[in-house]
Amino acid sequence: MHIISEIYSHCVSIFGNIFFWMGLLGIIISLVESARLRHYRKPPVSSGMKKIAVITGASGGLGRGYVLALSQQMAAFDIDEFWLIARSEDRLNALSDEIHVHSRIFPVDLTDESSYGLIERSLKSGNYQVLLLINSAGMGLSGTSEKIGNTVEQRMIKLNDSATVSMIQLCLPYMTAGSRIVNLASIAGFQSMAGFNTYAASKAFILNYSRALRQELLPQKISVTAVCPYWVRDTGFIETASGHQSSPFLSAKTSSVVKRSLRTIKRRGLISTPSIVSFLDFILGRLFPDNVLSRIASLLRV
Ligand SMILES: NC(=O)c1ccc[n+]([C@@H]2O[C@H](COP(=O)([O-])OP(=O)(O)OC[C@H]3O[C@@H](n4cnc5c(N)ncnc54)[C@H](OP(=O)(O)O)[C@@H]3O)[C@@H](O)[C@H]2O)c1
Repeated sequence: MHIISEIYSHCVSIFGNIFFWMGLLGIIISLVESARLRHYRKPPVSSGMKKIAVITGASGGLGRGYVLALSQQMAAFDIDEFWLIARSEDRLNALSDEIHVHSRIFPVDLTDESSYGLIERSLKSGNYQVLLLINSAGMGLSGTSEKIGNTVEQRMIKLNDSATVSMIQLCLPYMTAGSRIVNLASIAGFQSMAGFNTYAASKAFILNYSRALRQELLPQKISVTAVCPYWVRDTGFIETASGHQSSPFLSAKTSSVVKRSLRTIKRRGLISTPSIVSFLDFILGRLFPDNVLSRIASLLRV
């Protein structure tokens, strides 16, 4: 018994030390990266050049929330014009009228390959710099993979992952030092989730893709931020994804998620956990084995 307790205390001290120093190293790397991203020489702006913010999923939920918030702080993000992307033309038009900021609307379906040609031609046709790209279009559906079926699962992957990658590939040639890429991930990406499998996996993709892309784009001083909310109450997403009519316990408001994540985006942080639940799950995701956290998350339907 004595030997077991000796081994136990040795393990705790060795692993405790490793966790502590690796954690500290991680924090230092993040701080250095953010500082490097904040120091860049502003590229020259040619006459007639328009600095734009491209926002997918702009017709509702978080995407719309970002447009409303950013329209109040155009100078802080150095934006002249919005490009608003989603399928509902009427809702995009209404938003464009509401914000009183020059904006172009693109009523397209991002799961349809041909949609990208229109956006690409528009970028090519003018003198544009993409200073901000927010990939907010997304969908989630609860249920087992078997129940959801292949067609819907493929559509979810196309919208949540392929569309995000395609939009980044499309906009990158028009980005410059100081540009920002924002990808809407989710805390669902912090662990695997039975009963929400494809959605959680699609967000894990976004999370890791954003992490590596940030390193790749560091020399060009283009920042990448992954926003990882818990449930957001006043969105169209919640009803289909949660399978409940009422808002889950501790769900956040769109305005609060947008406000908190914009702080991280502004200071060019990598991961935004815009509520206490997101932050706690992020920490637990670093500490707990996936088969434990995944079961807790599925029970709580995080
Ligand atoms: N709400 C939450 O609880 C929550 C939590 C964590 C993460 N997230 C993530 O946050 C992001 C935004 O979600 P949300 O809450 O704002 O959802 P939402 O209210 O349902 O809005 C989704 C947006 O995406 C657009 N969209 C959907 N399908 C599209 C398609 N095929 N092509 C182009 N646009 C399409 C929708 O507009 P149209 O219908 O007009 O096309 C809408 O503007 C998503 O990536 C979601 O996974 C949400």
